[in-house]
Amino acid sequence: MAQYRRVSGSVGLITLQNPPVNALSASVRQGIVDSVKRALGDQKVKSVVICGQNGVFCGGADIREFGRQMSGPPLVPMIHDIEAANKPVVAAIEGSALGGGLELALGCHYRISHSKAKLGLPEVTLGLLPAAGGTQRLPRLIGVPAALNLITTGRHVTAAEALQLGILDHVTEHNTVDVAVKFALSVTGESLDGRRISSFSCAPLSDLDSLFEEAMLKARALQYFFFAQRAVGRWSTPSGARWDTSQPRPVRKAAVIGLGTMGRGITVALAQAGLSVVAVETHAKQLMEAKKAVPSMLKRGAVRGGTTIEPDSITYSETVQAVADVDLVIEAVFEDMALKEKVFQQLSIVCKPDTLLCTNTSSLDVDHLASQTRHPELVVGMHFFAPAHVMKLLEVVYGRRSSPAAVATAMQLGKKMGKVSVAVGNCRGFAGNRMLKRYLEQAFFLLEEGATPELVDRALEEFGFPMGVFRMSDLSGLDVGWRVRKADGLADTSLTGTSARVRQGCRYSPLGDLLCEHGRFGQKTGRGWYQYDKPGGRVAKSDPWLHNFLDEYRARHGLVPRCIDQQEVLERCLFVLINEGFQILEEGIAAGPEDIDAIYVFGYGWPRHRGGPMFYADMVGLERVVERLERYHQAHPNVPYLQPSGLLRRLVANGSPPIHKWRNVIKNRNSQL
Ligand code: NAI
Repeated sequence: MAQYRRVSGSVGLITLQNPPVNALSASVRQGIVDSVKRALGDQKVKSVVICGQNGVFCGGADIREFGRQMSGPPLVPMIHDIEAANKPVVAAIEGSALGGGLELALGCHYRISHSKAKLGLPEVTLGLLPAAGGTQRLPRLIGVPAALNLITTGRHVTAAEALQLGILDHVTEHNTVDVAVKFALSVTGESLDGRRISSFSCAPLSDLDSLFEEAMLKARALQYFFFAQRAVGRWSTPSGARWDTSQPRPVRKAAVIGLGTMGRGITVALAQAGLSVVAVETHAKQLMEAKKAVPSMLKRGAVRGGTTIEPDSITYSETVQAVADVDLVIEAVFEDMALKEKVFQQLSIVCKPDTLLCTNTSSLDVDHLASQTRHPELVVGMHFFAPAHVMKLLEVVYGRRSSPAAVATAMQLGKKMGKVSVAVGNCRGFAGNRMLKRYLEQAFFLLEEGATPELVDRALEEFGFPMGVFRMSDLSGLDVGWRVRKADGLADTSLTGTSARVRQGCRYSPLGDLLCEHGRFGQKTGRGWYQYDKPGGRVAKSDPWLHNFLDEYRARHGLVPRCIDQQEVLERCLFVLINEGFQILEEGIAAGPEDIDAIYVFGYGWPRHRGGPMFYADMVGLERVVERLERYHQAHPNVPYLQPSGLLRRLVANGSPPIHKWRNVIKNRNSQL
């Protein structure tokens, strides 16, 4: 489980071997202990490199061993012995060094990493502490504030950030093991006195108390979020349907209609949950591609999850007639109402009368689709997020006529698929995308006023989002929103003068539409808000073309750019999103703030250690949110969504109760109606 060999004459190379992530199982630990001993005892070996097979250094402890009796050599003395070695030990990090994997690397004297690797101590997300030296070595290496941040959030950092923080000594684009071996040769015989991290002292800090206070706030957010996840399971709808009084139906056989991006992922998720699946795709080429793609997605999922799924649990068909005997259907055809209407009419005829009919639409009216069927009470939305077999979030959208059993069945099926299912009402964009729209709009407005995509993204990424709004848009494709805006009659770039930036009396930014007209759809075309080395490229680089384009645009519209700071970016983008969240609560689209927070953390990358948007509002203080929104609304009167929502004002009028009491204020209001 750890292969040992001598390379380049004098370097002992230890390769961890435990697929898929070279987790530190008992036999891997034994392998490391034996190999280190061998290397240190061999006169010909002058230095040592530790790496992992198949492009992954080490994913940490072997979770399969959790709860079992400890066997094999323990991690702490093993890492200690590596650090105490009298020959230089170099960690060659590819793929990931997480948890115990990073702790192992911290025990080495040098750390060299590939530029695409991720590092972190995610133990906190499993309710654990990095107890194999992580809490001791990391603060000594990079200082208490940065270490506390990584340990209490569990976030992963890129190699670039790890280098900047001082966790890594060197980052390479080349073969990491080769680079590490060369490096190990170059440090042969050098003193290791300054390389043993546990002997470093922690830099003294004057503001340690406030630092720990901040960490406590994060811990509070994490605790809140833990309970929020449970709360979303206890769903209810305004019509009185509830989780504890609604009986879900058994679903053994399901169907997916449309095997594009989403349909394939949904098919995989259903098969992984142990259901037999009928997968229907009317376009022969798409069907052929799906028949290849789905089994390989299943295979990759099985490797990740350590399970086996019989590919013959899925049958493929070109016709909807094949779904006659299924218990539940998930429709995932193009986002086109006329097409979806037709599909629902057909399903209503073909399926058993008690089959649940679900749609994966991201914006269309679920009630309207229900009206196309003979049993509208059996129609709900099941809104997955891409990639559907990976993303944890599922919005279960109940319509006006959805029966409690239909909602309960979709919620339970989501759970069975390993999703966090959140019940939401039917409105344009449901909860998540409706709030996102406001956030995107503000980001565009900030560009018009003088910001750059880099500035906006930096502020959001420093806040904790894995990706800022512009990098995220480039990843998901700018054309998606463009098509929606065109269908809504908004994306008209022929308008000139002041009307170019106004729709229905409200401020509108055509920047996204203009970019799409230039063929800049994001990563897929190699150009978007950033440039990429090729279509499909992943590394976003600043694009001078875009900056010129923004300058010209501002000049054309007489907009004088001003300095915009990070605080304004955060307040404008996040407070408007939060405000929409309050509106959603007020309308009863989401039953409680926990639902919105779960949606944002699991579906939109909101940093978990900030608890979700509604919790964040509570932390910032509702009065402050109102005051800032009012100020921005005064400055931008043609942006109505900056006006604080009625519920937000009412909460402030009620003395800004803590988040767990908001439901009372919402309930009181609803009972007065
Ligand atoms: P897509 O364009 O990748 O796939 C749609 C598939 O449906 C195509 O393969 C098409 O040939 C097939 N199709 C069309 N008519 C059909 C019919 N009558 N019977 C069977 N198959 C038919 O689209 P994508 O992205 O998978 O989206 C599907 C649905 O999921 C849309 O409603 C979309 O709004 C929604 N959605 C998309 C998300 C995304 O990130 N792409 C996220 C969440 C929801």
